[in-house]
Amino acid sequence: MSKLWGGRFTKETNKLVEELTASISFDQKLAKEDIEGSLAHVQMLGEQEIISAEDAEKIKNGLHKIKEKLAAGELEYTVENEDIHMNIEKFLIDEIGPVGGKLHTGRSRNDQVATDMHLYLKDHTAGIIELVEAVQTAIINQAEQNVETIIPGYTHLQRAQPVSFAHHLLAYFWMLERDKARLTDSLERVNWLPLGAGALAGTTFPIDRERVAELLGFEEVYPNSMDAVSDRDFILEFLSVGSILMMHISRLSEELVIWSSEEFKFVELDDSFCTGSSIMPQKKNPDVPELLRAKTGRVYGNLMSLLTVLKGLPLAYNKDMQEDKEGMFDTVETLEGSLQMLAPMIDTMTVNKGRMRQAVNQDFSNATDIADYLVTKGVSFREAHEVIGKIVLYAIGENKFLLDLGLEEYKQFSELFEDDIYEVLAPEHVVGARKSYGGTSQEQVSKQLELAKSKLK
Ligand code: ARG
Repeated sequence: MSKLWGGRFTKETNKLVEELTASISFDQKLAKEDIEGSLAHVQMLGEQEIISAEDAEKIKNGLHKIKEKLAAGELEYTVENEDIHMNIEKFLIDEIGPVGGKLHTGRSRNDQVATDMHLYLKDHTAGIIELVEAVQTAIINQAEQNVETIIPGYTHLQRAQPVSFAHHLLAYFWMLERDKARLTDSLERVNWLPLGAGALAGTTFPIDRERVAELLGFEEVYPNSMDAVSDRDFILEFLSVGSILMMHISRLSEELVIWSSEEFKFVELDDSFCTGSSIMPQKKNPDVPELLRAKTGRVYGNLMSLLTVLKGLPLAYNKDMQEDKEGMFDTVETLEGSLQMLAPMIDTMTVNKGRMRQAVNQDFSNATDIADYLVTKGVSFREAHEVIGKIVLYAIGENKFLLDLGLEEYKQFSELFEDDIYEVLAPEHVVGARKSYGGTSQEQVSKQLELAKSKLK
């Protein structure tokens, strides 16, 4: 088959070279964007009288037919036509005849592919922001039911101080809120139109780039044609913002794995999000959060891979840039799939309040509060810390927790202890006393919850 660019060639392309250089196996994901970009381009070509209004109309009709075939799954791509741009151009020529060849006037595949990528990320970034919001909504729903639920809070994965379960969950709300802000900010750069840059230097035709930007919904036009065709920063930004988002997803997933273990049993994931073991009949495995945790690896990998591809590339377009696609698609699809799974998994999980209560009653996470108790009675914090350390050591020896010790036992360590110590040590009090802004008291968490809700539409 003769190539659309075949005029200068006397030999057929080597088959292996054809396979190596073709991108159609993966860039067919850009078919919709490619047609949208072409529709805007040809509209402008007609308006500027670069091609006749009649030809522009024919091309538009042809493109609409191809769009219909795309939706019906009737397009058959060929490796001979290399990439999505030339496959579509070939379909167009087959559809409407040689006049289809006028579509590529004043345009190159270099500005075309960059435009497709911008359009693709514009659309998917907006979709990902919505999916993040769905996870935030699920977090809020669980948090609302658990303001009063107390769990041990951890540092070093050792029991530290008790916290409201809602407070713990809401920490993830704010991580996701920052992810949304980063995604939204990255859209500012995605919103630049490269089309009209030509191969690298602009074009001799009197094109109107502002008009194309308007038709495609872009806010800016790249002011430098060489930058326009070689910029992949907007993809790198997406991949790095996506990596941070995926890291958050993996941290939350890890909590779900830990919490649903027999040792913790704080939550139970819904059966529909777990699988069994082929040998051990009793098992219910948290495969979904495990896989979300693991998929973080490929998302980081996609970022490293593109950074490496771009490193040291001279201006302007280089074929290396074709390697920007698979990683971007993979990160988009991994994020979309993970977020879609996470929201219902959080929504449907059962919170084992009884088990959480039991955990809180059986630890020393209220130790700071008796230290603070002595401080209110005039002891320095450092000295109080020492006294309480000794009490904890004593209690461990007696196989007791702080609430189990009698007042006489307390008085052995300091005469300042009175009956009100038991009130101070109760988990509700320990949590409720942390009233500082952003702290875990039920009162502060309720306020935080309202603030979180106000961030969602
Ligand atoms: N398939 C190519 C890519 O994805 C399109 C641009 C090709 N340009 C070129 N001059 N060969 O990068």
